[in-house]
This record gives sequence, structure tokens and C-alpha cells, in this order.
Amino acid sequence: MLRLDGSWRWSSVLVLIFLHFSLQGAHCSLNISPVGSSRVIGRAGSNVTLAVTFSGATDPVVTWFRGSLPVLTWTVGSSETADVAADYRGVLTIQDDGSLTFVNVAVDHGGNYSVELTKSGLAKAVALFTLAVFEIFQNVDLKVQPDLIKEGSDRFTLQYSMSQGVVQDHVWFFKGSALETTSHYTVEQRSVVIHQPNRSDTGRYTLLLTNPFSRVETHINVTVLYGPDEPTLEARPPQPFYVSGDSLSLVCSAGGFPRPTAQWIFGDQTLPTSHDGVLNRTNVQISQGGVYTCTLVNDETGAKRQKTLTLNVYEKPSANMTCSVQSVNDNTQLQYHCQWPGGAPQAELSFPALGVSISGVDDFSLTVSSSEDLDGRVVTCMAVHPLQNNQCNITAMSPVQFLPALRTTVDSEGRIVVLVQCVSDARPEALVSWSRGSDDVANGTNYQISNSTTWLQIRGYNVSDFVQEKYTCTCRNPLGSQSREIQLQGPAVSDFSLFSNPEGTIVTLTWEVPPTSVVTGFDVQMKGPDLLSPSSVQTQRAPVQYRTIQQRPGSARKTDVSVLDPKRTYRFRVVPRARTTEGEPSEVQRIGPGEGLSGPAIAGIAAGIPCSLLFLFLLAGLVYLCIYFYNNRNRQARYPVSRAVEKTVAVQSEVTPHHLLSGGLKSPPDYNRLRIPLNGQWLCPRLSLHLLSEWLRPSDPSLICL
Ligand SMILES: *[C@@H]1O[C@H](CO)[C@@H](O)[C@H](O)[C@H]1NC(C)=O
Ligand SMILES: *[C@@H]1O[C@H](CO)[C@@H](O)[C@H](O)[C@H]1NC(C)=O
Ligand SMILES: *[C@@H]1O[C@H](CO)[C@@H](O)[C@H](O)[C@H]1NC(C)=O
Ligand SMILES: *[C@@H]1O[C@H](CO)[C@@H](O)[C@H](O)[C@H]1NC(C)=O
Ligand SMILES: *[C@@H]1O[C@H](CO)[C@@H](O)[C@H](O)[C@H]1NC(C)=O
Ligand SMILES: *[C@@H]1O[C@H](CO)[C@@H](O)[C@H](O)[C@H]1NC(C)=O
Ligand SMILES: *[C@@H]1O[C@H](CO)[C@@H](O)[C@H](O)[C@H]1NC(C)=O
Repeated sequence: MLRLDGSWRWSSVLVLIFLHFSLQGAHCSLNISPVGSSRVIGRAGSNVTLAVTFSGATDPVVTWFRGSLPVLTWTVGSSETADVAADYRGVLTIQDDGSLTFVNVAVDHGGNYSVELTKSGLAKAVALFTLAVFEIFQNVDLKVQPDLIKEGSDRFTLQYSMSQGVVQDHVWFFKGSALETTSHYTVEQRSVVIHQPNRSDTGRYTLLLTNPFSRVETHINVTVLYGPDEPTLEARPPQPFYVSGDSLSLVCSAGGFPRPTAQWIFGDQTLPTSHDGVLNRTNVQISQGGVYTCTLVNDETGAKRQKTLTLNVYEKPSANMTCSVQSVNDNTQLQYHCQWPGGAPQAELSFPALGVSISGVDDFSLTVSSSEDLDGRVVTCMAVHPLQNNQCNITAMSPVQFLPALRTTVDSEGRIVVLVQCVSDARPEALVSWSRGSDDVANGTNYQISNSTTWLQIRGYNVSDFVQEKYTCTCRNPLGSQSREIQLQGPAVSDFSLFSNPEGTIVTLTWEVPPTSVVTGFDVQMKGPDLLSPSSVQTQRAPVQYRTIQQRPGSARKTDVSVLDPKRTYRFRVVPRARTTEGEPSEVQRIGPGEGLSGPAIAGIAAGIPCSLLFLFLLAGLVYLCIYFYNNRNRQARYPVSRAVEKTVAVQSEVTPHHLLSGGLKSPPDYNRLRIPLNGQWLCPRLSLHLLSEWLRPSDPSLICL
């Protein structure tokens, strides 16, 4: 390596020859010096020469030392081989000029060398060398300690090793910049220590090793485990609440490496672990509302963190909202009720109109003292629910005017039982109190009051037990009261009417009963010839006495009689009964030609043409009257009817009560009956005569014809 080139050698030789001849024999001194640098670098395995040049004497003795240890001695110019220390045989050779050559130099040959030149009589000369021997790097390896690096731990260390190589220089890089010793890093001979590692220390570390003969770059990827950080737990889509049936996902996440896994707890239930931190809730139910706890776990480090979320699942109350009002505290106070049960959460109910700010849920009630301004006032209950607001109205009303209803039956012991019903439309429902004369009626054997108090049942064997007394019923609720007096009457019949079929063979008898009359049955009586029957032999006898042909129950208001002979005259009447007591018979209705017809009727037939003309005229008038009459009648104001009474009457259909409320209306006649029968004897239709008799009130309808 430090081999001198030719020209340099030549000039050195010339200088030496010159010095040799000019200084020969004069006062000489020895001199030795390195050729080139005294610091010599060699690659292991190569030949390296520590080159010197000397002057001042011929054939001096050259001795090479390593440190203070002589390793080679030789006399320049001598033919003898150099004396080499045992450890260095085969390694060290001496050149003619005293330079020292290493053959296949090894790393451990590196060190401080010196050369001494001696010649007897002359002072010795010394030159110093430093030899550095480098190997080429091989199998450089980087390691990290410990294996698991956690954020917040004390430290971690990167270290390198290699199978061979001498390092002149080493530099650590992290993400492209060289590391120097700071509070965070400590760069040492063969390692670097990273203190208080955090996630930003994750990355690629590079080690660069250099010496004069080689350069090696090695990498290592370091991961600092961390987390979970503070988790976020949210529902998606984000909403303040969900309706049962909705679908949603709970998403739990936090920074961390490796990515944390989520464990879910709902109530005291542990739900399946989800690696993506998502808990799906499809068709969510109310029972699934509540507090969810998400625990995030770093599976490598075992670190955990928790977060909770309250899931609101709502549902509308499924039932209908209802409002009602009751009377409480002995019928003195009103209690308004508002119900809207179910739902989640329950709806909040209140009656702002009542001026009280109390509210409640489910079945909410408010008791207030009755006052006049509540009568007929619409009171609204407001319901507030997150999903829907609602309201219902209730109006309290004092009792309205009413009519008592009556029905009469006979009990198993043969007693007459009169049921009196007093129902007044009122809200809250009115309680009824009963009195007889000036005394209150007590619940007992003869008087029974129904649970609802609206019925009074009076029992007695004799109708005279009933008719002497005046009964009063008072319907009362907290807002007011209505009273009604009832004076019962003995059996009676009104509005007795007769209708016939066109042939005159069947008649329908109808009648009514006064509203307060006590009736348990009717005798239908007839005066006239016997009724026809297929088997009976007809007699011409016309009995002069009324005889009972039918008995009808107290509920009956009509009956049919057949078979009549159209050519004969019959008279009918109805006798009402209260058990054994008979009432006044009804007026008499007659059907048939009549006894006095024969003479004048024949005359009438003789005068048939004028009669027909008159009849046609009357008929026209009659038709007009009929239409007018029925139109009017349909328009007639009805008795005020309480719905409750109607309802009750309808319910009690097993025994038809008096048609008290229909005002005794007759059933409308069949207009077909206005047809004129082409019967020679009957020039005037019977019905027309009947109707005319109703309006014109003649003593004998047949006279009209005449
Ligand atoms: C080193 O010197 C030895 C002996 O003189 C020789 O055999 C060898 O080839 C030399 N090596 C080199 C690399 O020059
Ligand atoms: C070589 O000498 C230098 C000073 O000249 C000294 O610093 C160094 O330690 C020595 N090396 C050895 C291996 O003795
Ligand atoms: C180290 O990370 C880099 C990317 O940052 C990648 O290209 C390389 O393959 C990784 N090396 C190892 C040994 O994982
Ligand atoms: C949850 O729902 C989302 C989308 O709605 C879906 O992508 C995901 O796979 C579901 N996860 C589970 C665990 O069912
Ligand atoms: C209740 O009454 C108020 C007025 O008094 C009316 O606006 C509202 O529609 C009523 N609500 C119902 C449910 O009838
Ligand atoms: C009257 O008595 C009858 C039984 O005797 C009973 O069923 C009824 O509830 C009582 N009425 C009242 C108002 O207490
Ligand atoms: C019914 O009462 C009246 C008058 O009080 C009496 O004349 C009659 O005999 C009584 N009838 C019966 C069956 O008790």
C-alpha cells in the first residue's frame, strides 16, 4: 500500500548517496521517518507495509516494536534473515529499507508500532506508527428489547450484532433523521435506548455502519402498543330516541394498537363480543332500551376502558285515550279522569283547563268542587308523549229534564209489580232518590231500588195500593238535580182504532195506554155475529152483549181479529185490567154495513150517480187531507226523549213497556186501502169512511155517504 513509486525512490536514493558521500567521516546522526502518514489503515487479509526511510549510517540495526514489545530485529544490508518474534512469524517481513510488511494482516494486528534505528556510536532514531485494520461487515443484525413495547413503559433498546466487521462509525436513524443522545434517546456503542416510548416512536429504525472498506444499512420496524384511548360510544343514526321497531347500531371505538375489541354489557347481560365495536339492534324493542356499557380491550396489553350510553326506546300508548267524569264524596265533588295507559315512557296527562298544574300518568284523576261554570264546559285533558301529543274532551252536565217510564208485570205470587224508571241524561251519571209523598222510599219488601238507583219496583196485590200515592224521583249529580212527580193511575186505554183489510174479513185493533196507567192485561171484546170458522155453522143471530174474544198481556198494543163476514156488522172495544181490577172500557169501533143501512142505503144506491159525484169530490179532498195530515204528523215535535230511557226500553224488550214516549201515535194506514172496491153494496171504501170519521167526527160514517 505504501509502496514507493519509482521516481520517488530514485530521488531518495540520490539524496542518500549525496548525504552518504558528503557526510562520510564527519559527525553523523541517525534519522528515521515514516514515508507518508504515520497512521496506516489496512483491510484485514491484505498486505500492509509500514514504510520508513532512514539516514545517518549504513547498515544500522532496525528493531520494530509493538507497544514496548520488540517483534522484529534486522541489520540492514545483512544477508541474515530477520529475527521475528514467535507470534509474528509468517506475518511480519522486513524490506531492504527497513519498512515492515504485514502479510494477510489481521484485525488484532492493529495497534501502535514503533521502529528504532541503532548503530554503535550513534544516538538511536525512532519513528512511530499506528496501524488500524478493518474487516468488511457481515451479517449485521438488529434486535429490539423487550419484545412487547407498551406506551408509557420505561424504555426499549435497539441493539445490533454481526458475525464480523470492525466499526469505524455507526449512526442510528428514525424516520430519516439521525438520532443523538437527548432526554428521549441514549445512543451507545452498540445500541440506542428510547426512554418513555409512545406511539410516535412506532416506525422504521435504520442503523448505518461504516468503516473505510464497507458500509451497511439495516432496518427494523418497531411497534409501540398503546390504547385503548378514551372511547367514543354513539348510536347511529344519531337520534335522541328511537321508536320500537327501528334499527340502529351502537358503535364503540377508541384509538389503540392493536385495534381494541369491544365487549358489551346491557343490564346484567353480557352480549357477544364484536371485533369491529358495532352492536346492531334491528327491530329494537322497549326492553332493549337502557344503559349499554362498552368495554374496549387491547388484546395484547390487556388494557381496558369503559364507556356507557343510555339508549332511549319509545313507544306510543297503544290504547285509546279516554276522558270521563265521576261524582265522588257523596255526590258533592267532581272527579275528572284521564286515561292513556301503556307506552314508553308513559304519557304525561294534565287538565290545564281546571287551573291546576298537577299532572300524572296512566289513569290520572283530579277532584274538584262542583261549580256552575263546570256545567256544560268542555274540559280537555292534554297528553304529552315524545312520539305524539293527544287530547280528549269531557263535559260535565247537570241532569236534564226527563220523563219517567213505567212498566207493569205480575210476579209469581200474583202481585202486581210496577217498575218506575227515572233516567236523566247527566254527566256524571245522576243518582236517583225516591220518595213517596213526603217520605223517602226505603229499600224493603214492597219497594226495591235497583243498584243503579234508576229503577223503583213497587209490589202490591191491589191496584188501589198504587194509585193513592204520589211518587217523586230526583236525579242528582254534583252539578244539579231534576225532579219528577209520578201519580199512578188505574187501568185505562186510549186511542183505540180499527183497520181492516180490503176484503173486510180481518181487522186490526190498536190502542195505547196513558203513560202512568197500571195495566197488566186487556180483554178484547166484541159485539156482533160469531166469527166465521171453516167448521162452524153460521148463525144469523146477532148477540146484543159484548163478549170477550181475546185476552192480551199488558204489553200488547194491537191484535188481529178474523174471520169476519164483510156483510155483517161488528163492534169492538178493549177493557184494560190490573189483575182483577177492570178499568173503563175503550170507546167502541164498528165495522160492517150497520143496522140502519137497509132503507136509506137502498135510497142511496138509487141515487148512486149523485152520490158517486159527491164521493169523487170528497175523495179528492180526502186524499189531500190525508197527505196534509201525515206530513203534519211526521213533523210534529216529539216528546223530548232521553237516550238513556230509549236504551233502557230497548234493553227491556222481553216485556214491552207503555209507548209512553211515542206520544200514543197510531201506526200509519196503508194507502192501498184507499182503493175503491167494485162491490155494488160498498160505494164508499170503508177506510175512507173511517178516516173521514176521524177528522169530521160524524156520529155515523155512513151518513156522509148519504
Ligand atoms: C502478500 O505477500 C505474499 C508474500 O509475499 C504474497 O504471496 C501475496 O500474494 C501478497 N498478497 C497480496 C494481496 O498482494
Ligand atoms: C497508541 O498511541 C496513542 C498516542 O500516541 C494512544 O492514545 C493509544 O492509546 C495507543 N494505542 C494502544 C493500543 O496502545
Ligand atoms: C417495515 O415497514 C416498512 C414500511 O414502513 C415496510 O416496507 C417493511 O417491509 C417493513 N419491514 C418489516 C421487516 O416488516
Ligand atoms: C351491523 O349492521 C351493519 C349495517 O347495517 C352491517 O354492515 C354489519 O355487518 C352489521 N354487523 C353485525 C355484527 O351484524
Ligand atoms: C276538544 O275541544 C276543543 C275545543 O273545546 C277542540 O278544539 C278539540 O278539537 C276537541 N278535541 C277532541 C278530541 O274532540
Ligand atoms: C235493594 O235491595 C235489593 C235486594 O233486596 C238489592 O239487590 C238492591 O241492591 C238494593 N238497592 C239499593 C239501592 O241498595
Ligand atoms: C182492592 O182495594 C179496594 C179498595 O181498597 C177494595 O175495595 C177491594 O176489595 C180490593 N180488592 C182486593 C182483591 O183486595
